[in-house]
Amino acid sequence: MRVGHVGLAARRMSAEEAAELILPDMAVGMSGFTGAGYPKAIPGALAKRITQAHERGEDFSVRVLTGASTAPELDGVLARSGGIGFRLPYQSDPDLRARINDGRIEYMDIHLGHVAQYAYYGFLGKVDMAVVEVTGILPDGRLIPSTSVGNNPAWLDLADKVILEVNQRQPMSLEGMHDIYQAPLAPPHRQPIPLLNPGDRIGEPYFYCDPSKIVAVVETDTPDRMTSFTPPDEGSKMIAGHLVEFFRHEIRKGRLGEHLLPLQSGVGNIANAVLDGLKDAGFGKLTAYTEVIQDAMLELVGEGIITVASATAVSLSESAVDEFMDRIDYYRSRVILRQQSISNHAELIRRLGCIAMNGLVEADIYGNVNSTHVAGTSIINGIGGSGDFARNGFLSCFMTPSTAKNGAISCIVPMVSHVDHTEHDVAVLVTEQGLADLRGLSPKQRANVVIGNCAHPDYRPMLQDYFDRAFRDSQGKHTPHLLNEAYAWHQRYLGTGTMKF
Ligand code: COA
Repeated sequence: MRVGHVGLAARRMSAEEAAELILPDMAVGMSGFTGAGYPKAIPGALAKRITQAHERGEDFSVRVLTGASTAPELDGVLARSGGIGFRLPYQSDPDLRARINDGRIEYMDIHLGHVAQYAYYGFLGKVDMAVVEVTGILPDGRLIPSTSVGNNPAWLDLADKVILEVNQRQPMSLEGMHDIYQAPLAPPHRQPIPLLNPGDRIGEPYFYCDPSKIVAVVETDTPDRMTSFTPPDEGSKMIAGHLVEFFRHEIRKGRLGEHLLPLQSGVGNIANAVLDGLKDAGFGKLTAYTEVIQDAMLELVGEGIITVASATAVSLSESAVDEFMDRIDYYRSRVILRQQSISNHAELIRRLGCIAMNGLVEADIYGNVNSTHVAGTSIINGIGGSGDFARNGFLSCFMTPSTAKNGAISCIVPMVSHVDHTEHDVAVLVTEQGLADLRGLSPKQRANVVIGNCAHPDYRPMLQDYFDRAFRDSQGKHTPHLLNEAYAWHQRYLGTGTMKF
């Protein structure tokens, strides 16, 4: 019996009936983080309502706030209905991305660790409705979270009304894997967060929500998105190899211990491939303090190389989900899922000294990083938690193939077309060509190692030529640039068919 609370059992209804409770212009806080734990039925039912309203000539859109990216059943279906007026934070759905990039949807990209705080401060306006997937409802009303926690505690707390989706597909044995910490007080009353190790439990494994606010309970039986990763190729294996060699070097220097420091690994194929490369590197007793557990990290936990992994979501491919479910008791003692305001909290990332490893779109010769935009104007996914970890980690590493689109685009550029991480937040840059350790270097020294170690040989002479002429001709010699040329570098890709976003 998934809905154990008698009062809430009486509020069970269909997704269509529940969607009727969502009205135009409402701000709806939804669950979901990197394709895990998002509501599966209500967004589709809401999209139908919105389409019908549009057919009658009525305006109908809502503000959609989530944890991070969701899935076609949420972002895709709502975007196609024309029903999203405003969206935050991270997203990765092709239909949503297309509508953001053609100007039809207002999108706010924000550090994932900041969302709940923004909401509590009131910067996002009133949250009218929360729509949250849970695994079950206990007789006393406590809610068993699902495969992601994200911003759910904030939405459940702040929303005027709440709709719960109880997903039978999520195993009841998830119970106990979560650690939900009471929201920190607002300044000036804020206290230190009592978490000293990635494996510490500082809260309760349940959500609490006033049952009188819960206006509907919808039962579903649908799996999470389960995206597959591209298998690690030669390039990503080389990136992993450079990082492993660098970690060994840091151990020899005494700056890292043999168990490293808690790992954070970003989203995407490259991040997954780099973790995969850690499997055979000979490290042991590692820990992770990260935001999402993808396949390769699950494997590291499964093989006992990572002893404990703290995150806010498990986002796995189908085969990894099978492994996770088959050995869920094993994983429950080694995986802790927290709300993203804790998994991505600056204080905790700094205290634990995380090793941040994130992907990028382009980096410039001085170490500024663009993680989000193509040609400076079209968004791919969003900054996610990369900024939370890059700014506050012990080591901030960014990794990328040196070129994109089969070599047609250099990922090392004179000046990034959009800045997500400034030169001040980037310590290490890695491509398949090599690794640039930027710590303690001036801008001109950084340019030297970025061009020499990271750029693809096809682009290295062009970048070196740019730097040499910029040093000769630019007015300031601290961060030499030829602005017209730096912009023109990006301009030349437009119209080549390589910029599909
Ligand atoms: N110009 C144009 N397109 C580029 C590019 C560039 N300089 N660099 C990469 N791309 C394209 C790739 O070609 C690919 O598109 P395709 O699938 O159509 O070929 C896409 O961007 C993804 O690149 P890929 O090389 O497959 O890397 P990835 O899956 O590791 O993702 C990011 C890279 C940057 C998109 C991803 O890491 C991201 O979204 N980062 C921001 C969020 C983040 O870091 N979160 C971390 C905490 S969770």
